[in-house]
Amino acid sequence: MLPTIAREDDVVVMIDQRKLPAEEVYVRCRTAAEVAKAIKTMVIRGAPAIGVAAAMGIALGVRRSTMTGTQKLAAEFYKLCELMAGTRPTAVNLFWAIERMKRVFAEAAQAGASVDQIKDRLDAEAQAIHDEDVASCRAMGTFGAEVVPAEARILTHCNAGALATAGYGTALGVIRGAVEAGKSVAVFADETRPFLQGARLTAWELVRDGIQTTVITDNMSGSLMRQGKVNFVVVGADRIAANGDTANKIGTYSVAVLAREHNIPFYVAAPLSTIDLKTPDGSQIPIEERSAKEVTHVGKSQVAPAGAMVWNPAFDVTPHHLIAGIITERGICRAPYTESLARAFE
Ligand code: MRU
Repeated sequence: MLPTIAREDDVVVMIDQRKLPAEEVYVRCRTAAEVAKAIKTMVIRGAPAIGVAAAMGIALGVRRSTMTGTQKLAAEFYKLCELMAGTRPTAVNLFWAIERMKRVFAEAAQAGASVDQIKDRLDAEAQAIHDEDVASCRAMGTFGAEVVPAEARILTHCNAGALATAGYGTALGVIRGAVEAGKSVAVFADETRPFLQGARLTAWELVRDGIQTTVITDNMSGSLMRQGKVNFVVVGADRIAANGDTANKIGTYSVAVLAREHNIPFYVAAPLSTIDLKTPDGSQIPIEERSAKEVTHVGKSQVAPAGAMVWNPAFDVTPHHLIAGIITERGICRAPYTESLARAFE
């Protein structure tokens, strides 16, 4: 399976997603600050993968700490949590993973664990977050495969694959699950301007897996649907509010509206760590705005004149009424989502 991120002794290793598909190189982070920078600059990206990276970064930072007492270690630990929390605001998996690490630290400290024992427990928790994510993706693949048509022509947006998770993927996990279930699957990957996660990462993953993949630019999906060439849409999520409103990569909302117009089922695949029951609806989800350069440039080439203003929100919100179902590791949640999402946690 594709290694997105791994802990190796006192280093966190991740494949550099900025360089794919042209180069397959790995970044070795030796400090928590380097992990935080890798998240911010999108060496690693995708909501579940960001959560895993933050947990591993915190564990690494604590492991490297020279503090001798639990209290001093605690002060350093909370600073590391803050550092990670400041990297990217939308993916709730980041804050969910930090909370898990905080809980483990507090429980260990309260139980009188030594500094070394605390370090071990944080390492183990980060690895558990990683391993559970792979298991969740596999489960989503199994549940999701059931709703994929036997002769599937699937459109997906951005990259919600192995690269965006600890492995296997959420939306691409559903696609992989359908292939493993023996369905005939062809995928259309939206290019996904401005960072090109669809063209660069989704297509790279699927081609490696031998799954038929056609890359389209984002403005082609409407025409494709009108010609009857798509019969299923599945995307990932960065944060799902209690009512089912879903934040995902910018452009997802347009795809959902188009899917509704053409009577194509639009599914979201996401683990429970992406569901934020504390946020009542999509209007409360913080949307990250990224640098103008991502829009004015494609790679090193400038495609818009200097002086033009730029709007670059990294995510949009798809209202829950456009979503046919939310595929989780516990099964498929259906409307009314306020009830079904809450039930998924029971
Ligand atoms: O800005 P990115 O690349 O981190 O955005 C990623 C997405 O929008 C994904 O679709 C989402 O995180 C789900 S990943 C399983």
